[in-house]
Amino acid sequence: MSQAKEERRATNSSPESHGTDLISKLPMRETPSEPLFLYKNFWFRRIFLERIMLLEATFKARHDDIILATNPKCGTTWLKALSFAITNRSHYDSGNHPLLTRHPQEVIPTIDVEIPLNGDLTFIEKLPPPRILATHMPLSLLPESISIQGCRIVYICRDPKDAFVSRWHFMSEFFGEKPDINVGFNMFCEGVLGYGPYWDHCLEYWRESVIKSDRILFLKYEEMMLEPVKFVKVLASFLGAPFTGEEEDAGVPEEVVRLCSFKTLSGANSSQTEVVQRGSVVVKKSAYFRRGKVGDWVNHISEEMGRKLDDIVQEKLKGSGLVF
Ligand code: A3P
Repeated sequence: MSQAKEERRATNSSPESHGTDLISKLPMRETPSEPLFLYKNFWFRRIFLERIMLLEATFKARHDDIILATNPKCGTTWLKALSFAITNRSHYDSGNHPLLTRHPQEVIPTIDVEIPLNGDLTFIEKLPPPRILATHMPLSLLPESISIQGCRIVYICRDPKDAFVSRWHFMSEFFGEKPDINVGFNMFCEGVLGYGPYWDHCLEYWRESVIKSDRILFLKYEEMMLEPVKFVKVLASFLGAPFTGEEEDAGVPEEVVRLCSFKTLSGANSSQTEVVQRGSVVVKKSAYFRRGKVGDWVNHISEEMGRKLDDIVQEKLKGSGLVF
């Protein structure tokens, strides 16, 4: 049985399942892998929706928490590595850095993936301040205390064509079988995917970042790939850990970029047998590092499909100032 099916069975039968009654009443769409549920304008797999509902009820943000928000497959692993390397740079040198032995997904938790269904938040309560916590939740579903406390948020997004292709590969890895790319693509274009519609996820964070640029740092994968050192400096300042002149002269930003590069991290996580355990989700370490390229979509979907998705996204983002 695939891991996803085992997980679904376990979740459905858990007496601690949170929000199960409500979820059963939500609009639902069957997909080739498993059903998605529409909750407050976004689609979710049941296992994550239960956790999101749980967080809405239990999560208490602290004013100095930093939230790394992403739509899946847009650069979460990279952003986690960079944030960890920047904020811990005084503790390690590059030769013995924990990121060479620990997966970026292990050093910063994704709260909506990892919160246990009994609501026990010990795994994040013991983190030293300022806590860095990741999430795939849309802005409108973040627990209220995050905005009440004025927590800073870093959001990273990516060209939707590459995000789709990356997600399609990851789902194959996760579900143990390759879903039909055309079916997946049509659903993506309809907005029906976990944490989707993709464009609404981006738009919510984008609009808020325009109004509150001191609270939300909005990043694009493609721009970071082009000028990583520049963006690492921006990120460090936003995280409250700017590089000093001395550090810049000594090439520390460049060192952070090298340590967190696709080449270094994929090399350190190349094992095909080692896994990362994230809550009830178990994924091969190497699955988070596929190609790490901009524009890889051309190798997987036709130009016509690319144009179709571009047109949809352009229409959805019209007037917002956000472009891909
Ligand atoms: P591809 O599938 O296009 O290669 P996430 O971390 O949100 O799951 O996103 C995964 C995507 O980011 C994958 O894209 C992965 O290869 C890429 N990625 C992972 N680590 C990276 C890094 N250090 N630098 C650039 N891209 C990275």
